[in-house]
Amino acid sequence: MTDPRIAVTGATGALGGRIARLLDERQIPTRLLVRNPARAPKLQHADVAVADYIDRAALVPALQGIDTLFFVSGFEAADRLEQHRTAIDAFVEAGVQRVVYTSFVNCAADSTFTFARDHYYTEQYMEQQGLAFAALRDNFYADMVPRLVTDGVIRGPGGTGRFAPVARTDVADVAVALLTDPAQPTGRFDVTGPELVSLEQAAALLTEVSGQPVTYINETLQEAYASRAGIDAPQFEIDGWVSSYSAIAAGEFAVLSDTVERFTGHPPMSLRAFLESMR
Ligand SMILES: NC(=O)c1ccc[n+]([C@@H]2O[C@H](COP(=O)([O-])OP(=O)(O)OC[C@H]3O[C@@H](n4cnc5c(N)ncnc54)[C@H](OP(=O)(O)O)[C@@H]3O)[C@@H](O)[C@H]2O)c1
Repeated sequence: MTDPRIAVTGATGALGGRIARLLDERQIPTRLLVRNPARAPKLQHADVAVADYIDRAALVPALQGIDTLFFVSGFEAADRLEQHRTAIDAFVEAGVQRVVYTSFVNCAADSTFTFARDHYYTEQYMEQQGLAFAALRDNFYADMVPRLVTDGVIRGPGGTGRFAPVARTDVADVAVALLTDPAQPTGRFDVTGPELVSLEQAAALLTEVSGQPVTYINETLQEAYASRAGIDAPQFEIDGWVSSYSAIAAGEFAVLSDTVERFTGHPPMSLRAFLESMR
């Protein structure tokens, strides 16, 4: 096998795993960067290296010979930004030339959606370190919409705001297009579905497609925290969940783009098509 020039982080996850499989189908030699090699996908054209983002000493040798890297954002954690910065230092030290990073739509230092702030600072850090990158500023994953439902209800302070759910398969297709063609641009790209939907419309679609009634309760901020009070989760995580709704209400996810079609040649999947594909 030719030595890989492309590496994929998060290959044990949904997005990284799909990207790894798409590259393998094209017979492109790839290095899979994972934390647990037993969970790495078994692919014909890929080898496996083990490293956590926080482990610079393991990352640098794992990336030897790699030009282009798919960098999936780590799990939401209190130290996620530190993990990302450590990983970026390692990418630079190992000589990685170009990164495709999974960012978030409208990320900013003061994003209403608290988890989006790490993405802003991660982009900034790559810029400061002189690392060329394409940030895929993903909208809310369509895959996550059914997971908003608890006991037939979507509840949160989302108001009548709208968002543009994007299927992870479309995000993966964009990533593969960028990873496999060095002539593709770097920069920041909003990656969105084809239409804006409100949470009420999402609930109606879920009802229609699943046949199970789903309703949306537009909570106040106070109600949102009260309804999550019994959940055993750290405060930063609860803040992240609640603020994702507040960000929808504030219009921060109400972004449409042509990125999927522009880089893949096919239109993005609608929420309806995505939900129907899950049946
Ligand atoms: N746009 C949205 O709506 C949305 C929603 C949810 C999440 N996200 C973001 O999108 C990312 C990717 O999505 P996904 O669906 O592919 O997630 P996923 O299936 O949960 O996979 C995440 C991957 O990241 C790896 N990872 C996490 N922390 C790491 C670390 N410190 N060092 C090395 N690898 C690490 C995991 O490795 P292990 O298997 O070893 O744990 C896993 O392979 C998520 O991590 C999250 O930041 C976006």
